[in-house]
Amino acid sequence: MLTIGHRGAAGYEPENTLLSFRKAIDLKVDMIEFDVQLCKSGEAVVIHDYILNRTTNGHGFVADKTLVELLKLDAGKEQAIPTLQESLEVIGNKASVNIEFKCRSIAAELCRTLNYFTEKGILHLKNIVVSSFILDELLIIRELLPSVKIGLLFEELPEEFDAVASQLQAFSINLNFNFLSKDIVDRIHAKGYKVYAYTVNKQSDKERMETWGVDGIFTDFP
Ligand code: G3P
Ligand code: CA
Repeated sequence: MLTIGHRGAAGYEPENTLLSFRKAIDLKVDMIEFDVQLCKSGEAVVIHDYILNRTTNGHGFVADKTLVELLKLDAGKEQAIPTLQESLEVIGNKASVNIEFKCRSIAAELCRTLNYFTEKGILHLKNIVVSSFILDELLIIRELLPSVKIGLLFEELPEEFDAVASQLQAFSINLNFNFLSKDIVDRIHAKGYKVYAYTVNKQSDKERMETWGVDGIFTDFP
């Protein structure tokens, strides 16, 4: 079962920062998950919430700020909000990466960046999973990057999951572990997809996921 550092190693360092990614690498995670969205000037930035208040000393919406404005903020322990590019540079091929995008209209920017990094050899495409709850944008990713691994995110598995997942040629189904069961894991595996469960922070839950055959857990405490 893979250990996927959630927002880096969010239980130890400020989430979705380079410090958090470096900590996750030090802890030898298999994969690092982080969240991206577009800011006003068009760059992809790494932050979970749409509003700045919880994780930075700023206020208002990420989408209303330029990159220059965002870079002035403190995302914890004097860390700046990282860009997608900086994050990929730090992680490189030291761990696999799960990029979760949180907004629409980001597919082109994301694929352009991934193409650049894979062509330069900084990243191997096989080490990347792109995931989202936003199906229509995932479909654009699939068109632009036919060979990238796609993780389809749900809170709870819908009955018709395979119709959507097969259209996307999904690699994994990523689910809230609170809504998982052995039966659900088996149903997903029977269709040929991996199962990644979020966000598993207790040892007893981790052991249950392992018993059920879950392929990877997102955890704040890798
Ligand atoms: O990708 C798994 C998990 O990160 C999804 O939920 O809210 O933590 O981004 P959230
Ligand atoms: Ca996430």
